[in-house]
Amino acid sequence: DMGGHDTYMHKEIFEQADAVDRVLRGRIDDRFSTVHLGGLNLDAREARGVRRIKILGCGTSYHAGQIGAQLIEELARIPADAEPASEFRYRNPVVDPDTLYVAVSQSGETYDVLAAVQELKRKGARVLGVVNVVGSAIAREADGGTYVHAGPEVCVVSTKCFTNTVVAFALLALHLGRIRDLSVADGKRIIDGLRRLPEQISEILAGEDEIKRLAAEYADAKSMMFIGRVRGYPVAREASLKLKEVSYIHAEAYPASELKHGPLALIEPAMPTVAIVPDDDLLEKNRAAMEEIKARSGRILAVAHQAQEKADHTIVVPKNENELDPILMGIPLQLFAYHTALAMGRDIDKPRNLAKSVTVE
Ligand code: F6R
Repeated sequence: DMGGHDTYMHKEIFEQADAVDRVLRGRIDDRFSTVHLGGLNLDAREARGVRRIKILGCGTSYHAGQIGAQLIEELARIPADAEPASEFRYRNPVVDPDTLYVAVSQSGETYDVLAAVQELKRKGARVLGVVNVVGSAIAREADGGTYVHAGPEVCVVSTKCFTNTVVAFALLALHLGRIRDLSVADGKRIIDGLRRLPEQISEILAGEDEIKRLAAEYADAKSMMFIGRVRGYPVAREASLKLKEVSYIHAEAYPASELKHGPLALIEPAMPTVAIVPDDDLLEKNRAAMEEIKARSGRILAVAHQAQEKADHTIVVPKNENELDPILMGIPLQLFAYHTALAMGRDIDKPRNLAKSVTVE
């Protein structure tokens, strides 16, 4: 049942305010400005002993894990990084007893992730799951974890589960942070930010007509560049993947800082750039990158907290706490990919060559 939407992708994009509400529900502890994640199976003493966090996933779940790693570093000050599960499992990684491993998967059935979890377990590592489908293989195999409560996702292209997974990581980061050095005041600041998300998501989705108009404006592109830095970079990568999957327009994502080390050679009017430009301490750096693109007659669509002078168009999104901004900045670009694909007559819910869960190697 698509509930009045023409595609599951559209329905699932529009379910995000409710979905985020669901992942937050019952977990916030205002008394201690923290959150409770019932299924982690990691007590406070064990959590304090974690020296490093390694997040493993594929595709969109890997990108959600990249934002998750940044959230964990920022809020809990634990070194963290994300890696594609398949790369990890084929490179004979050093498995360290003080590292906490986190497997991320919507379906909970992705073979490369499951195989990585099994290899880690065999070596005695502790593995948590951040999974959407309850009772799935990865959820069962993990030592504990948290469900992301996005609800069923039918469209092959993941949207609401990406957003909810990042919110679940924010909860995990806040929980670990409050056991370690995150202050009560900062815990409260993040909780207040999380509570604002559902309404801000609705606000972004209310701008659909404008995003649809912009999608038509850029639909002639043969290829698009997506740039961002630090918090904005995984957002750029995910937005680039969405556009590729659903519209079949070639897209690539680069850290804005890497442009001058090669990809600037590609910039010309036929290669527009989508720039993720949060209003944080890197704003000036991002403006400088847009200036470099403009100087090569590149067209720019910015996603930012206020209209960007250097950009041809800006999608303005509501500001949250700096750490939580990436959660919101990807959402208009889901709609951008959707409307681009729709205008091109693509099979939106079942893009060619793709399957919802990849249970083979
Ligand atoms: C992207 C997409 C894929 C999946 C990837 C992992 O829209 O659908 O990149 O994210 O195959 O799938 P899960 O999360 O089920 O492990």
